[in-house]
Amino acid sequence: CGIVAILGQHEVAPLILESLKRLEYRGYDSAGIATVDDGRLGRRRAVGKLIALSDLLVHDPIRGHAGIGHTRWATHGGPSERNAHPHMAGGVAVVHNGIIENFRALRTEFEADGIVFETETDTEAVAQLCARELARGLPPVEAARATLRRLEGAFALCFLFEGEDNLLVAARRGSPLAVGYGDGETFVGSDALALAPLTNRIAYLEEGDHAVLTREQIEIFDADGAPVTRTLHTVALENFQAEKGLYKHFMAKEIHEQPGVLADALARYLTPDRAAVRLPVPVDFTSASRIVLVACGTAHYACHVAKYWFERFARLPVEIEVASEFRYREPPLDAGTLGIFVSQSGETADTLAALRYVKATGGRTVAVVNVETSTIARESEVALPILAGPEIGVASTKAFTCQLAVLAALAITAGRQRGTLDAAEETRLSTALATAPGLLSRALALEPEIAEIARDLSRASDVLFLGRGSMYPLALEGALKLKEISYIHAEGYAAGELKHGPIALVDDAVPVIVLAPTDPLFDKTVSNMQEVMARDGKVLLLSDAAGISWAGEGTWRTLALPTLDPFVAPIVYAAPAQLIAYHTAILKGTDVDQPRNLAKSVTVE
Ligand code: G6P
Repeated sequence: CGIVAILGQHEVAPLILESLKRLEYRGYDSAGIATVDDGRLGRRRAVGKLIALSDLLVHDPIRGHAGIGHTRWATHGGPSERNAHPHMAGGVAVVHNGIIENFRALRTEFEADGIVFETETDTEAVAQLCARELARGLPPVEAARATLRRLEGAFALCFLFEGEDNLLVAARRGSPLAVGYGDGETFVGSDALALAPLTNRIAYLEEGDHAVLTREQIEIFDADGAPVTRTLHTVALENFQAEKGLYKHFMAKEIHEQPGVLADALARYLTPDRAAVRLPVPVDFTSASRIVLVACGTAHYACHVAKYWFERFARLPVEIEVASEFRYREPPLDAGTLGIFVSQSGETADTLAALRYVKATGGRTVAVVNVETSTIARESEVALPILAGPEIGVASTKAFTCQLAVLAALAITAGRQRGTLDAAEETRLSTALATAPGLLSRALALEPEIAEIARDLSRASDVLFLGRGSMYPLALEGALKLKEISYIHAEGYAAGELKHGPIALVDDAVPVIVLAPTDPLFDKTVSNMQEVMARDGKVLLLSDAAGISWAGEGTWRTLALPTLDPFVAPIVYAAPAQLIAYHTAILKGTDVDQPRNLAKSVTVE
């Protein structure tokens, strides 16, 4: 969920709405605004995307120079207007990100007192607690503090009070929150992105902090209640420009931006002659005895590709894991562990928790992030930017390929430092990496053909993706892209594993998409493809000209990708995988940039 709050000089509702647009990546099940106008609390809420709230405000505007806003990704309680934030009770309105873990106990406590909750949310318990403290006569700030003392869980909260046109209380425990300084105005936001249209001067609350804001000043207190100062950052606003331009969807724009952003990223990670890798910030691999790569979703698949690279170039044991499993497994780690955390947003709750776990066990931490001001970037020892620029489409595209480029540079560096990769090999790999943007651009030129193929795919109810070696994670990513935006069931499999079960799914109605550049594993993948074709499977083969002329016969369709060094194939083959999902989704008429049930960054565990 996303939070924004403003103590302004003018009407705040339009400004809050504008900021919420930038937070929609955190969820878009429902949204709401509360303001204080003439001392009175008012609120508007709407189910669905922000546009619904914005329509509502046209017909039923809300006035006031002080307000809070929220965009929700439902956790407790379905996405209804009743469950939408802000939540109100007796003179206080609250917006909340995260989970109040003891809300059931609190609810029971209130019910015993005869208070009936209006919603199914955990947040209402916060509003009720605060209202009770106010009713007992505590002044607003003290009432908020007393409330915070009763809460368990990981959350960020912001309180607005009846009769208080110049007061906000914001608190951070587990979920990030920043405060912003304007000219006679102050702000609260989930991240720098939310505050970008309002101010470029921000401070991040630290764990356990709460802030008391008026238009004139922001007082910050630590977990013990002692006043503290937090570093003021000046944020470069150009990092937050995000327009669709001539494209119909952000996703299309972001897919097509890849050659450009990838080239920019590589310029930061390769020497000017492109014969070697040069990291913008040093990372020491010599003292590492193993690497753990932790992430969620698409970023996890980037880690999966990187595992093949690290093992091959640096001969280091590598584990990959989804963050939500890693953190609770409590794996035994030591100082020789180098944890690499990959996240586009840098705010994903599970990835952040995994990072904190590795730090606490004495391991070293490197973050690979797109948002350089994010919590994961700030909390890791070293943060490497992927330089993809703002990614708005919920389905990650350009962040994936830029993550791969940075991870490739890291794997090469590890190999050099550990003496397992010689200079000639580094030059070959670096030169190959430098060709990736051009090759990707040629792969994007297949779009008209892909749009054609998508006509058939859009009628399928299941699609399989197959790959071997570093193309196996690409098969997983291709399937994820397709399911998240077209809602067609899709699975990715290691080509060699198909015969151990999934082949039972194959018939002439199930398209099987085979990702097979001519690499040393090509023949083996082709054998698996033949097994599919022998069972009437409908194969779409993605390979290069040589691969297609060798094995294309009898397939349903082929897509000829450029001939390339297999090392960069995962980067280049990402493009057709993304376009297949995109065009299939367009034909299905889904909301490509904001598919149902998803959020771009999941800030709850
Ligand atoms: C969400 C998004 C995915 C994304 C994942 C990790 O589930 O829908 O596209 O890959 O979170 O996000 P992160 O910001 O950590 O890369």
